[in-house]
Amino acid sequence: MCYAIPGKIIELKGKIAVIDYFGEKRNVLSEFVTVQKGDYVYAQGGIIVDKIPENEAIEILKLWKEKFFELKKIDKKLAQLNKIPSARNILEILQKVNLKKELSKKELLYLLKLRDKASLKLLFQTANNIRQREHDNACCVHGIIEFSNYCKNNCLYCGIRKDRKIERYRMNMDEIIEVAKYAVNKLGFKALVLQSGEDYWYDENKLYKIVKEIRKLNVLIFLSIGIRSKETYQKLYEAGARAVLLRFETSNRRLFKKLRPKTSFDERLELIKFLKEVGYIVATGFLTGLPGETDKDIINNILLTKSLNADMYSFGPLIPAKRTPLENLKPVHEEVVLKTISISRFVDRNSKILVTFAFETLGKDAKKKGLLTGANSLMINVTPLRYRKLYELYPGRPDRDKEVEKNIKETVDLLYSLGRAPTDLGV
Ligand code: 5AD
Ligand code: SF4
Repeated sequence: MCYAIPGKIIELKGKIAVIDYFGEKRNVLSEFVTVQKGDYVYAQGGIIVDKIPENEAIEILKLWKEKFFELKKIDKKLAQLNKIPSARNILEILQKVNLKKELSKKELLYLLKLRDKASLKLLFQTANNIRQREHDNACCVHGIIEFSNYCKNNCLYCGIRKDRKIERYRMNMDEIIEVAKYAVNKLGFKALVLQSGEDYWYDENKLYKIVKEIRKLNVLIFLSIGIRSKETYQKLYEAGARAVLLRFETSNRRLFKKLRPKTSFDERLELIKFLKEVGYIVATGFLTGLPGETDKDIINNILLTKSLNADMYSFGPLIPAKRTPLENLKPVHEEVVLKTISISRFVDRNSKILVTFAFETLGKDAKKKGLLTGANSLMINVTPLRYRKLYELYPGRPDRDKEVEKNIKETVDLLYSLGRAPTDLGV
């Protein structure tokens, strides 16, 4: 099973390689692996992560060729705009979107407040149409290993907050590497997210060794380990990590302060900016449905994600977890998250937008709906089952007890039914 299609390098311009996928061209960074024109490679997140022998690539591409064009056709059809009778206001705004004009905050708010079925249908279709025009049918599929549920923080919404009495676990270095090997060599992942609570038991040295080892597997390493010193992130970049997932959680400072005691908004933002400077691919974003959050906050969240030059948008609903201070909160409606996905697509046409696990928790078809309203990235949980049920940021995760092989099959079936292919999205 394989989640990236091999591409052929047709041009090298300094660090940038132009890769051809059946006639489709993408620019990717070629700093990791030494390559030449004519080489066949796998790319993830816009970076070449591995080179493969020509005969092997040609075999794989033979299997893909028919499917590739068939999928594109399905996607194009699903992304077509149908005529939906709508109010003039919304048509005017969407016309601006189509003309690549920037929308004002007032217009973004107007879209977020839409409620009637026809308008929402048009909004979602337009976002899907733009996603298709910008990225074609490419979809990122990353694996995620949740390697520790210890956290030194006490965020009010979080199921693994320090004060919540739960069974804690830490995977040791060998275990993490074993899982990574399985995910890459047996399951075919080309990008892996390493996630944990803010657990300083894994000091810089340990993390360095883990990254160095996993990097040998020729895979894109995403870190999702919370706040660390700039020096540590710099070191981990040198060890071979190339991406970081770090949400700012909310652009509303007052809410941040209330919900994330003893952590600093400014420090988080500064770190995100620093990570971009280092050269990391940065995934960031926020939670929706925080207590006291307004529509304006949601729009500000989207705009802050854009202003941080996020390579990937990661946001999801807050799912209230039992025995946390927010256990009685009413979760946000699925529609709000779908509107947030679509508006993010308008604000940042070229972005990668993730359908998060938290969003999948809201409904059986959430993944499909997210992909059809502007999203183009997914994650699959490869954490061993015995640990996965302990990594309970929130209840009801659909992948909690699902064998990874089954999950992969269902995800690939879903992607194919929507005409999406796991080509890399480029930079
Ligand atoms: N519901 C949804 N997402 C949550 N997170 C933490 N707790 C919850 C919850 N109850 C998210 C945070 C964090 C990510 C790892 O998990 O946004 O950044
Ligand atoms: Fe720790 Fe992150 Fe949960 Fe906050 S949200 S308690 S930092 S794992």
